[in-house]
Amino acid sequence: MSQATSKAHQQAGSLWSSRMAFILAAVGSAVGLGNIWKFPYITGENGGGAFVLVYLACIAIVGIPVLIAEVMIGRRGGQSPVASMRELTATEGTRKGWRLIGWNGIVASFLVLSFYSVIGGWALVYVFKAASGMFTGADADAIGGTFGGMLASATDLLLWHSVFMAIVIFIVGRGIRSGMERAINTLMPLLFVLLFIMVGYAMTTGKFGEAVSFMFSPDFSKLTTEGILTALGHAAFTLSIGIGVMMAYGSYLPQKVNIARTAMTIAVLDTGVALMAGLAIFPLVFANGLEPGAGPGLIFVTLPLAFGQMSGGVIFGTLFFALLLVAALTSAISMLEPVVEWLEEHKGISRAKSALGGGLAIWLVGIGTVLSFNNLADFHPLAFIPFFEGKTIFDLLDFLVSNLMMPLGGLAIALFAGWAMKRQGLDQEIGLKGGVYSTFMFVLRFLTPAGIAVVFLYNLI
Ligand code: PHE
Repeated sequence: MSQATSKAHQQAGSLWSSRMAFILAAVGSAVGLGNIWKFPYITGENGGGAFVLVYLACIAIVGIPVLIAEVMIGRRGGQSPVASMRELTATEGTRKGWRLIGWNGIVASFLVLSFYSVIGGWALVYVFKAASGMFTGADADAIGGTFGGMLASATDLLLWHSVFMAIVIFIVGRGIRSGMERAINTLMPLLFVLLFIMVGYAMTTGKFGEAVSFMFSPDFSKLTTEGILTALGHAAFTLSIGIGVMMAYGSYLPQKVNIARTAMTIAVLDTGVALMAGLAIFPLVFANGLEPGAGPGLIFVTLPLAFGQMSGGVIFGTLFFALLLVAALTSAISMLEPVVEWLEEHKGISRAKSALGGGLAIWLVGIGTVLSFNNLADFHPLAFIPFFEGKTIFDLLDFLVSNLMMPLGGLAIALFAGWAMKRQGLDQEIGLKGGVYSTFMFVLRFLTPAGIAVVFLYNLI
């Protein structure tokens, strides 16, 4: 077992050649569909400003402390999430129950990838749609129709889901990490540039002010308790925390790297991308008389409208969806990693076979999400529970992983790092001193758990 572990570690040992390499990979994981697809549509569904404010508070109080703690646990454990937690519970002399953190990670990353891949498939189709020039001059109805048509076809969605999963399996199976590093290195800055261009375009629509006030002037009457839970879940989702992904990545982090500073950089970049996506999208929503609460289709309906009207729109549009695809891929890869590492370690299967086997199982479960948008759109498996009434398979999976497993995983990580681990280990790892360190520990031990607990209790009542 320990042999398999060190082997798994070695294969990726070349991974983080530097702090920068880790930042890029972690940002690659963090920045994804969550920022550009999910953040705008859940902000729209939850009424804007108040939701954004709660989301930012969740990033600060829960997201950043848990990210620091999770990377720290990963580096200290030095193996896959399950093995790291097994080792740490032994060396730190804590209860064995904490090991559930590792298992929660394997199961959650399995489930999240099953639906993430389907949405990744949408990004993939939209690269081709944008390149074909079909959006040029098209109106909101035509573009909405294109999106609706795509969703209605189970075979199309299945095809793109399959292609997306195949790419992920291929990359993870080969373990071509240095290639990924270099790709992320150039593609992420490009994504930023394109987002800037989109925000610039959005400013010309005359509705930029309305969008800014939609996003930033809070109207708390629009905020529901489920909205607060969504904000908390999204803070975890967007930073890729609570499910062992950052733990796995942290296990390859050189000892000299300052975890706290690195985590801040990741969180700031990630939040920046999300806010910019909102500023690019909502002006278009208002300018075209669309519904901010339109749901998962939001960016696929608004952005093509803009691309169809601006000069050079075919090129910008194609580039944009290509980058969205890359952002989705770098996140998806990080989701498959814990599953693959676990299969390698515990089942003694080769990396390539682990990626294939794990990936195929995930692909299969993903068919449930594919069907949620067409043949099974009216199938609500948990309709007998009032809260889950209108939720499809996709909605339920998203809710389970994003709103339950990720925040609760985060809670367990905060408690484990803040209360169960020995202080000495933390002092060495975190890279903060004096008052800043005490403040951080106070937040991690009290505010983070209290924040998560309050949101959950509030939702239960
Ligand atoms: N953070 C990614 C995004 O915003 C999603 C993700 C979740 C990636 C969990 C890895 C683990 O798209």
